[in-house]
Amino acid sequence: MTNKSFFIKSYGCQMNEYDSEKITSLLLKDGYSNSNDINEADLIVFNTCNIRDKAAQKVYSDIGRVTKKNSDKTIALVGCVAQAENEEIFKKNKYVDIVLGPQSYHLLPKMIDAHNEYQKKQINTDFIINEKFDFIHEEKSPKGVSSYITIQEGCDKFCAFCVVPFTRGPEYSRSVINIVEETKSLLNRGTREIVLLGQNVNAYSYTDERSMTYNISKLIDEISKLDDVKRIRYTTSHPNNMDHELMRLHGSNEKLMPFLHLPVQSGSNEILKNMNRKYTVDEYKKIIDNLKDCCPNIEISSDFIIGFPGETEKDFQETLNLIDYVQFKQSYSFIYSERPGTKAATIEDITPIEEKKNRLSILQKKLEGIQLKFNTSFCNTNISNVLIENQSQSNPEYYFGRSTFLQPVYVKAKNLVVGDIVPIGIETCNHKSLYGTISH
Ligand code: SAH
Ligand code: SF4
Ligand code: F3S
Repeated sequence: MTNKSFFIKSYGCQMNEYDSEKITSLLLKDGYSNSNDINEADLIVFNTCNIRDKAAQKVYSDIGRVTKKNSDKTIALVGCVAQAENEEIFKKNKYVDIVLGPQSYHLLPKMIDAHNEYQKKQINTDFIINEKFDFIHEEKSPKGVSSYITIQEGCDKFCAFCVVPFTRGPEYSRSVINIVEETKSLLNRGTREIVLLGQNVNAYSYTDERSMTYNISKLIDEISKLDDVKRIRYTTSHPNNMDHELMRLHGSNEKLMPFLHLPVQSGSNEILKNMNRKYTVDEYKKIIDNLKDCCPNIEISSDFIIGFPGETEKDFQETLNLIDYVQFKQSYSFIYSERPGTKAATIEDITPIEEKKNRLSILQKKLEGIQLKFNTSFCNTNISNVLIENQSQSNPEYYFGRSTFLQPVYVKAKNLVVGDIVPIGIETCNHKSLYGTISH
């Protein structure tokens, strides 16, 4: 036990944030207190992301800033950069004391003790087959209305641009019992919406001791049996794992939201092939058509990579054409970032960065236009189901919630109950959010 404090910062995806919550609970259990001030804390945990160069570099500038003021802190660099760069990290920055990959964060307390006792740098980047989930224990602290739960990790797909198969290892699915237990604990602590997480969440597959195999559809059905679960979402899905059972579930399971994040990356067959995505534009469109047949009001969001090596103006135009077809209602788009060790890093890339930036800006404007049009269609209407997530601290007449399509909704109202699903009269909007009052 210790009377020391820690500060933790997450750089990455939702799964990385989920891991940070688990690391927080491990450290609290070990007697540490959680500090909001990076300069005051004795231990700093940087939970890193390696997906793009910028995210990976940011941690080093952050370490520089904090060690300039005080160099006797213990610094742990954990997560995907730790996995990818390994011992190199100690060479890049002498202040890092502990390097720990995402599969073994449960070892952190022991490594801190070993570091303190022997005053030696500690490293562990083994792929221990998801032993870490056995270390997730019952937590007591209150939870938000919407909570993540990791059900699947790793990736076997090896898209040409992506580091995830190297940083998170092969696909692994958690047991149904384990997930249901954690869901119950979240519900007891205030959660009403469950967001199932995985790098390839719809590739979830778990066979229990009675040889019953659960895919994601069966798991969702199991979770939706719990009364206090009001909404279920899952992310991130791969188009090739979108089976008919899951598409149909969007139409039949009322707790499963009619909103799906299904990253396409590009609308050009040539680029998709070089990315090793293993589907064509027509196959992707077919999935969207089938989803709409099963669940007519479903909306889609996506990720796009702009300027993948060899992307021509024509390829880019084809991406814009696909956007016209699908009408994505939300998206994340980034300029391609070359990652060491990936297949795409060996492909010649001649498109000037200015050209890529120009394409990104055209694409983002187009997507914003679609979002604005979609949001505007709700103005002067009542939307029946906004899940209220929290109340403003500074102005208690304001609440924040989300629609079924994940639109942020800012509400002026009196006496709403956080965790309730309520009808809201929408008055104004911008491309990101809706604004309204309670309608009676
Ligand atoms: N498993 C998900 C994506 C996980 S990574 C899928 O297959 O769709 C999250 C997003 O980061 C990706 O969808 C992609 O758009 C982006 N990304 C991954 N590697 C990248 C790179 N090298 N450069 C730019 N964006 C990248
Ligand atoms: Fe990366 Fe592709 Fe796996 Fe998604 S499916 S995590 S993009 S390798
Ligand atoms: Fe980043 Fe690792 Fe997530 S590379 S996007 S933190 S899986």
